[in-house]
Amino acid sequence: MKIFSKNELNNYQLSLTYDDISLVPTDISRIKSRAEASTKVKFLDKDFNLPVLSSPMDSVTGIEMAEALSDLGCLGILNRFNMTLDEFIKRQNEFKKVNAVSISLTADESSIAELAEHVDIICIDTANANNLSVLKKCEEVKTKFKVKVIVGNIAHGKSLKDLVNAGADAVRIGIGGGSVCTTSVQTGIGIGQVSSLLNVLFIRDDEKLDIELIADGGIKNPGDVAKAIALGADSVMLGRMLAGTRETPGEVIKYNDQLWKKYRGSASFGVKLKNEFIEGEETMVPYKGTVKNVIDAISDGLKSAMSYMNCLNIDELRNTETFAALSNSSFLERLPKK
Ligand code: IMP
Repeated sequence: MKIFSKNELNNYQLSLTYDDISLVPTDISRIKSRAEASTKVKFLDKDFNLPVLSSPMDSVTGIEMAEALSDLGCLGILNRFNMTLDEFIKRQNEFKKVNAVSISLTADESSIAELAEHVDIICIDTANANNLSVLKKCEEVKTKFKVKVIVGNIAHGKSLKDLVNAGADAVRIGIGGGSVCTTSVQTGIGIGQVSSLLNVLFIRDDEKLDIELIADGGIKNPGDVAKAIALGADSVMLGRMLAGTRETPGEVIKYNDQLWKKYRGSASFGVKLKNEFIEGEETMVPYKGTVKNVIDAISDGLKSAMSYMNCLNIDELRNTETFAALSNSSFLERLPKK
């Protein structure tokens, strides 16, 4: 079997996603127990316990989720639909632990100015960052206010330099890979998440661009988080993995003797509530209890991966160069059997 470096995976003839690859431990590990591995990271100049962000979706990140993630040392990006900017600004004293919010392209300058007084990170939440109005908005926010800006999403790195020139500090990578995303089905756009991430990573490094990379969409389990970081992502953004937890907005529903919560795409009918073009689904996910359970599972999985891969810290994990490309049967063999 061939062991692939990142560069070789990047030049693989087909587009790849998380289930197509795995990490191959080759070295004798110097790590005695996974507790020795540190998942601490700096992201956008802030310290975090884990390289994990919550997606700014209305069924994922309200105030409670943003605060819970802050307590757990992760970053929640407050959704722009749950609360108007004006309401957020009025009530911001209650929200001391919220340090990132999403805004739409239509957010006006005076609300952004107020917002910038209270948060350090603003995410310009659009489906496609390869758009002149996104570049313009990013430039406007960066020249007028002292905040870090996240833009997105992109599937390929060709426009990365333009985003950096517009002042973007981080970019969400992934189009068509989200679990409630119907973009690819509706439009035929998008490539596998692993190939997207690697393509942007190599362009960033070859062109020596200063921008952090967020692997966004399609992350289903702690193993996918480990793969994304090993591929070089600075952090991962999660929707479905956090959906259904107690801290997400929305009611717990009992149906067929099971507890559920709603999870829906930002471009779904339920969010838009009008007959526009729809690129997202609405679904129910099993109720998972507190978000701490999910974050602990990610932390444990990541530390265990680091111990297999002989990595004491996240930077070492990011330098992984030993990947396998899985056949369909070897992917299936990896799954537990009933
Ligand atoms: P998940 O973690 O696989 O559920 O993916 C979450 C990501 O899907 C988000 O962070 C967005 O990038 C993307 N996304 C959210 N809503 C939609 C939508 O309605 N259409 C397409 N993509 C979406």
